[in-house]
Amino acid sequence: MDRTYDEKLADFEARVGRGEKIEPGDWMPEEYRKNLIRMMSQHAHSEIVGQLPEGKWIPYAPGFRRKLTLVAKVQDEAGHGQLLYRAAETLGKSREDMMEELLSGKAKYANVFNYPTPTWADVGVIGWLVDTAAVINQTMLAQSSYGPYARAMKRICYEESFHIKQGYDIIAALARGTPEQRKMAQDSIDRWWYPTLMMSGPPDSLSVHSQQALKWRIKTKSNEQVRQEFVDHIVPQIRALGFEVADKDCSYDKTSGHYRYTQPDWEELKRVINGDGPCNKERLDARRKTHEDGRWVREALAVKGRKSAEAA
Ligand code: COA
Repeated sequence: MDRTYDEKLADFEARVGRGEKIEPGDWMPEEYRKNLIRMMSQHAHSEIVGQLPEGKWIPYAPGFRRKLTLVAKVQDEAGHGQLLYRAAETLGKSREDMMEELLSGKAKYANVFNYPTPTWADVGVIGWLVDTAAVINQTMLAQSSYGPYARAMKRICYEESFHIKQGYDIIAALARGTPEQRKMAQDSIDRWWYPTLMMSGPPDSLSVHSQQALKWRIKTKSNEQVRQEFVDHIVPQIRALGFEVADKDCSYDKTSGHYRYTQPDWEELKRVINGDGPCNKERLDARRKTHEDGRWVREALAVKGRKSAEAA
């Protein structure tokens, strides 16, 4: 006899509750599928657009070793995007549709990548601060109930952890440098502080999707928990290098065992993720141009694929 929706839902929730992974062919509530597609495609777009602010610095990287590492890092981000599009495709959404949503401006991607990178220190700060925030979030997502997402996260976290070292190494070198180099690093830390705090998402009271995502273990920690973990982890590191935290009120609270910090401007997050950040236009224009430039490759591959299928 066919099981009712409620029976299937109870079975699904019991599996999630036991910590089992949900796999592509398994029954899942439509809202679970939609929430995952939304989050995973936004995540994939973030990896792809995230290549741009740092990629700009490849020709100007100071020295051969820095250039090689930066090229490898930017390539890693492209690979992460591919892994995540592939994982999202397992939920029935085509890559073409996801790409169309990005290029038309309908889809969101991480707020941070809409800010400019005017100095070399920004490359270091993206690797160190932004990727630390990303890894803390992604380590949590590696426990996600959806198998393909959780597995993609494990691989991505290994590589992102290396990116953090690359970023830290750049900033540590600037910290040992001239007063001008130290100032360049401090200015960059200041500029990226609030955008990086925003990266973990709005406060729990303003978050639209968290409640459902937590219930079905798409996410295993709330936006605020992830942000607090980031602050607790990074503030001592910033100070250990002799730099200051942009938030002058940021202080350690002995009672809670956490750093208190000033909330970012949540209206700014809304503006930036809805298309009105300092570099949104530049980022999307660059993606659209790359997509057009690569059209002949996609078309050639499609013809080759058709011919191989006919010959088989
Ligand atoms: N950048 C861009 N968009 C953001 C954002 C950010 N930092 N924080 C929140 N948003 C968007 C959400 O995507 C959502 O938009 P939508 O309803 O149009 O899809 C909206 O703001 C409300 O946020 P919320 O309800 O809290 O969304 P959420 O439960 O998906 O949490 C994230 C937001 C970013 C924490 C979550 O999506 C996530 O962990 N994503 C995967 C990690 C990722 O994308 N990292 C990118 C850097 S590599």
